[in-house]
Amino acid sequence: MTARSIASGSDLALLQSVMDRRHSCRSFLQTPVPWPTIEQILAATARTASWCNAQPWLVHIVSGAPLEALRNDLVAQADAGVPPEPELDWPVAYRGLFQERRRACGRALYEAVGVRHGDREASGLQTRENFRLFGAPHVAIMTSEAALGTHGIMDCGAWTANFMLAATAAGLGSIAQAALASWPAVLRRHLQIGRDKHVVCGISFGYEDTAHPANGFRTARAPGSETVVFVG
Ligand SMILES: Cc1cc2nc3c(=O)[nH]c(=O)nc-3n(C[C@H](O)[C@H](O)[C@H](O)COP(=O)(O)O)c2cc1C
Repeated sequence: MTARSIASGSDLALLQSVMDRRHSCRSFLQTPVPWPTIEQILAATARTASWCNAQPWLVHIVSGAPLEALRNDLVAQADAGVPPEPELDWPVAYRGLFQERRRACGRALYEAVGVRHGDREASGLQTRENFRLFGAPHVAIMTSEAALGTHGIMDCGAWTANFMLAATAAGLGSIAQAALASWPAVLRRHLQIGRDKHVVCGISFGYEDTAHPANGFRTARAPGSETVVFVG
């Protein structure tokens, strides 16, 4: 079935339109999101499937003064050049197709915000925006029960994707950020995260600043021939 043959008005067409609209938001308005909206998004995301229905996630929604304190500390770490100490392995190497896709998405962002190739200072400032949470009024810090291992983390990935879709459906912008797991010790200190949890990633969210150039590009997707194998 091709996307074109999906009946308009069907549930799948509706879902497709939310999926098409979702993109990583890299500049937010400061306006806080009303609490009932956040609760609705969380209620929808709670339907995420997980192995044995263990629901290995514990998510910290951080807003207001605690968020500003966290933001300040993350930016301070970045500005001091503290080397990342992620608890979960970061990719070892991007090769071939994966490297091409990675470069294409980096290029699109830099072109959108006017960072010239090789301008380390400007690209560093854009990277720093991660730790400013791109100006978002809220962040969800994802942790996973350590004893549930890799599959717990995989379930957290599903939660993350569903949260971003629900946020899009509620008219919000969001972005998953592995960068926020750079210094788990900072998150542990601010949020009293115990050693029984892994820090997985963060999701900054809020109302999108639609006029900001960082939000003015969209990433492409590889064709099915590169990502799907049909057997039989
Ligand atoms: C688990 C995960 C971690 C990510 N970490 C970051 C990050 O630290 N900083 C960032 O700018 N984007 C991050 N992204 C966003 C990706 O770059 C983005 O999803 C990808 O380029 C596809 O673009 P789209 O989300 O606009 O469709 C992350 C995405 C995922 C799913």
